[in-house]
Amino acid sequence: MDLWKQLIDKLETDSRLTKEEWITLIENRNEESAEYLFEKARMWQHRYYGNQIYTRGLIEFTNYCKNDCYYCGIRRSNRSAERYRLTEEQIMECCRSGYELGFRTFVLQGGEDGWFTQEKLERMVYAIKSGYPDCAITLSLGERTKESYRRLFEAGADRYLLRHETADEEHYKSLHPPELSAANRKRCLYDLKEIGYQTGTGFMVGSPGQGAEHLAEDMMFIRELEPHMVGIGPFVPHHDTPFANETGGTVELTLFMIGLLRVMLPKLLLPATTALGTIDKRGREKGILAGANVVMPNLSPTSVRRKYELYDNKICTGDEAAECRNCLSRRVESIGYRLCVSRGDYGT
Ligand code: 5AD
Ligand code: FES
Repeated sequence: MDLWKQLIDKLETDSRLTKEEWITLIENRNEESAEYLFEKARMWQHRYYGNQIYTRGLIEFTNYCKNDCYYCGIRRSNRSAERYRLTEEQIMECCRSGYELGFRTFVLQGGEDGWFTQEKLERMVYAIKSGYPDCAITLSLGERTKESYRRLFEAGADRYLLRHETADEEHYKSLHPPELSAANRKRCLYDLKEIGYQTGTGFMVGSPGQGAEHLAEDMMFIRELEPHMVGIGPFVPHHDTPFANETGGTVELTLFMIGLLRVMLPKLLLPATTALGTIDKRGREKGILAGANVVMPNLSPTSVRRKYELYDNKICTGDEAAECRNCLSRRVESIGYRLCVSRGDYGT
């Protein structure tokens, strides 16, 4: 029997591979092993989630950021980024129109922006939760103290997304300024889980300097953390960053990693990300067919869309929320799936 087949079968039954086995599986992947993997991934996806694709309404409420990650278009050193903050009224309006369109999860995502103080954030979470008690609130606000995470949870937040970006400390250092560390990222993630958040992590595929050994570490870290959600997408260069001339990640490797995640932790919430849809016009459909089961269209007002430019050529920057909803609905139906109106909690 082929070695890759043995390794995929082992992953399916044990959910753990050694670092060397991960590297072998990733480095020696080919069309045949990918198809074998995706078939298993779809089998598990169907077992837990049927043909339902969960939706989350993304509200990018501020692009001010105190961080300076080398890959990111809204890093603080990018003087060309036009900065904006949504008002509380604008945010509530996004929720109102999102609710009408059938969204039952709101994701509040922003740069690390001190203007939104702990109190302001708690008030916002509380206001949304009071107005939409049947909806889940997901926060994606970067690194904070455990106490801050706890208070936001008590204010009504249900979930938190914080990608670990890369599990390897040295590789992490090469993508971030010295004040950031993989160790602190991981600390945040364990804190979030302990508090009771449904926790999401993730990484970029094909970030500069990334090799199979790093991806192996990402998979092993995710197996240990056991998050509820994992968001992965290709690295896409942004013209105003230090990585402007680096090569982006590929669709092919991103899909393979999605398949591995589905088979390793079969109940995972796995988004077919906007970055994947950006580098391939059917990227999100391909993501779903590799095991993804979540899409996250944008609810932000179109006036600010193009300003939340983490990478070049980001899709949907001119489309209203309703257009994205219809577009995605058509896309998932074209491959035999359906968008569903529900909170879309882990494993349900
Ligand atoms: N290409 C792809 N993904 C990016 N992100 C940030 N910059 C880029 C880029 N240039 C991702 C990071 C972050 C998420 C919000 O967006 O993984 O966690
Ligand atoms: Fe936004 Fe297709 S999802 S236009």
